[in-house]
Amino acid sequence: MSDRNAVNQCDIGMIGLGTMGRNLLLNMADHGFTVAGYDLDKNKVDSLQKEAQQKNVYGESDLTTFIKLLKKPCAIMLLVPAGAPVDAVINSIVPHLQAGDLIIDGGNSHFTDTDRRARELEKKDIQFLGVGISGGEEGARLGPSMMPGGDRAAYERVRPIFEAVAAKVNGDPCVTYLGKGSAGHYVKMVHNGIEYAIMQLIAESYDLMKHGLGLNDQQLHDVYAKWNEGKLNSYLIEITSHIFSKIDERTHQPLINEIVAVADQTGTGMWTSQSAMELQVPIPSIDLAVAMRDMSVLVKQREQAQKLYPRNIPLLSVDRFKFINELENALFTGMILAYAQGMALLNVASQKYNYQLDLEAVARIWRGGCIIRAKLLEDIRQAFHANKNLINLLLDANLAKKINQGEQNLRQIICQTSLIAVPMPAHMVSLSYLDAYRSVWTPANLIQAQRDYFGAHQYARKDSEGKFHTEWERNLT
Ligand code: 6PG
Repeated sequence: MSDRNAVNQCDIGMIGLGTMGRNLLLNMADHGFTVAGYDLDKNKVDSLQKEAQQKNVYGESDLTTFIKLLKKPCAIMLLVPAGAPVDAVINSIVPHLQAGDLIIDGGNSHFTDTDRRARELEKKDIQFLGVGISGGEEGARLGPSMMPGGDRAAYERVRPIFEAVAAKVNGDPCVTYLGKGSAGHYVKMVHNGIEYAIMQLIAESYDLMKHGLGLNDQQLHDVYAKWNEGKLNSYLIEITSHIFSKIDERTHQPLINEIVAVADQTGTGMWTSQSAMELQVPIPSIDLAVAMRDMSVLVKQREQAQKLYPRNIPLLSVDRFKFINELENALFTGMILAYAQGMALLNVASQKYNYQLDLEAVARIWRGGCIIRAKLLEDIRQAFHANKNLINLLLDANLAKKINQGEQNLRQIICQTSLIAVPMPAHMVSLSYLDAYRSVWTPANLIQAQRDYFGAHQYARKDSEGKFHTEWERNLT
């Protein structure tokens, strides 16, 4: 347990000593901060202290003692599961706090919960920050990307700690104050939406290379490892290459083939889609990625359907080397389109919720530490640097050049894959997003006519102002 002499000594306290909380706390201690961790589970407290060894880390499972350890006014970070547990922890600590103390929620909380908590705590003169943290276990321990939002003065209090522990890119910490209220959690939610889309795109490239080209796991490892050296260089491509070379200790075969193909989700991807629908921002690649996780769950139905619609996937008769290059270009184009949709959503949300986001800063802090870190994010950062008011990355000349280079390959890959019935819906929807976005003409005039026909919803005319209704069935010829 803790050293009672450490009263008022700790720079920050952590509630929740699960994987993320423990590792982030140890990261803070590595950077010279004196820290305290609290968990009801004594085993977690013990394992924190065991790992901490000689460092300035104090573990506690008594809340009053834990809070006594903290410098006043105190700063307490929560890393507990999103939803009710966050409210439960806040309610349990508030009676021990004083005006000016600070609570930091570092979990994946829904942004509306963050706004509500900020309002409730403000009434009690308690400061509150909602901080998205990305990078998983390794990120937490060695340097995550951190997305803080809330009261700016509160951020300044913890800024030295955050800047010290965050990942660095060219010495630049992957953390910055993002905006008021729930800005940090909103940005983290969209980060996860983009994460879903990119993971789906990568999964589709795997399906195509496995079934259309007949590549084995070693060959898949080699392709992703090579891709990671080029324009696709990113954390998700890198771990994908590692996954294909991992041998299962039980079967001594590649582990990937022992894993049940049903994808779980904790909700952030779905929240991104829900929010985009509400704000009327099209983000079809992210919506689709959520839908395909839902599709993966329908195991029994898919077993039945496979009998009704048997498919025999023939190998593609293509030049393998050339085809893999085309697929690399297609995937890269899909990736740009996924970031573009996420960023376009952030742009609208920033205005709607008055976050005043600096999208260049968002791209900058995503370049390291987080799950969607990628070489491409430097181009994205530059696009927002060149134009602070860029409403969609597709309108940036440099990215347009890259998209124009990959577009034909994306189109070809989609043609080939539909002929052999390998589903690549994230690639398809991303291409259609591009095709729709760049088309001045859309068939929505017909939709307006139909709405007016059956519901007298009225339509606008090209040649006059105002709204019009037609009696469509009068004088039908
Ligand atoms: C990150 C991850 C992290 C977590 C996701 C997984 O940025 O470190 O996104 O937040 O792994 O919540 O989300 P799903 O369980 O929904 O796939």
